[in-house]
Amino acid sequence: MGRATAVAHPNIALVKYWGKADDKRNLPANPSLSMNLAALTTVTTVEFRPDQASDLVTIDGRPAAGQALERVVAHLDRVRALAGSDERAWVASRNDFPAAAGLASSSSAFAALTLAATQAAGLSLDEVGLSRLARLGSGSACRSVPAGIVLWEMEDAHQVAPPEHWDLRDAIAIVTGQAKAVSSHDGHALAPTSPLYAARLAAVPEWLAAVKDGLARRDLAAMGPAIEADALAMHAVMMTSRPSLLYWLPATVAVLRAVRAWRDGGLEAYFTVDAGPNVHCLCLAAAAGEVENRLKAVPGVQQVVVSGPGNGVRSVNQHLF
Ligand code: DP6
Repeated sequence: MGRATAVAHPNIALVKYWGKADDKRNLPANPSLSMNLAALTTVTTVEFRPDQASDLVTIDGRPAAGQALERVVAHLDRVRALAGSDERAWVASRNDFPAAAGLASSSSAFAALTLAATQAAGLSLDEVGLSRLARLGSGSACRSVPAGIVLWEMEDAHQVAPPEHWDLRDAIAIVTGQAKAVSSHDGHALAPTSPLYAARLAAVPEWLAAVKDGLARRDLAAMGPAIEADALAMHAVMMTSRPSLLYWLPATVAVLRAVRAWRDGGLEAYFTVDAGPNVHCLCLAAAAGEVENRLKAVPGVQQVVVSGPGNGVRSVNQHLF
């Protein structure tokens, strides 16, 4: 057993995963489609050590505790079971973006952890194997394993377009860097309590078809309305579940309204929002500078990060320790 380091990008879902068909196998209630974000990165180093009594995990320089630690240890247990080993690990993970603020840090976290831990354990999994294993750590992580635009259906996630297919941009308006009160992991369990849950699931195939079609034709106007509708439907499910989840802040709504006003004025951008208050604005590369400047001027927006489509998970030789 040795040491290995992996790099992964979080992904932004254009059609969301919200609710599970099978909790134990972490299978989604609906197919989802996402784009990896090149500008945001998680780096994770794993080393298994024969003399260590328990797993030691740091995230962004601080010891992990509570649910975050439990999820990492459970994932290391899966890798140990595959490798037939009981060695404990030292894990260090670094994000170059605020964790748990709705920037989907669990997607890049479990994609990077899966590759680093399996390699450190001497295993060599192919992309399908890595993606399936990453899914057990966090569902959305299976979409950060392949590169570019990725479709996740039940067990498997696979690429539908490479990063260079299209110069799409995600301009992310960060309205807070604080961790959210309810993780998406816990939120999924509440989804079926919403009277709107079944209605959203019934509508997803149509939205997914529109997004796939727009992607294939590189036509943002063909997919934008479906992206917005699905994000709003997911938040309607969140807001109407019991207990109710309200992830938005006033600045979230300000950005949603601004994006629509800009569009009325001819600037092509469409929004989506994950389980948090930050807003992702999808636009073409040529419009990204303008969208970024306008987002910065919306009251409550603290920072804007612009990202193009990113690669899949990969190993690197620079270790964190
Ligand atoms: C709102 O993948 O974080 O970002 O499988 O329980 O770890 P677990 O959930 P997670 O859920 C992501 C939800 C979302 C939408 C999406 O990325 O599709």
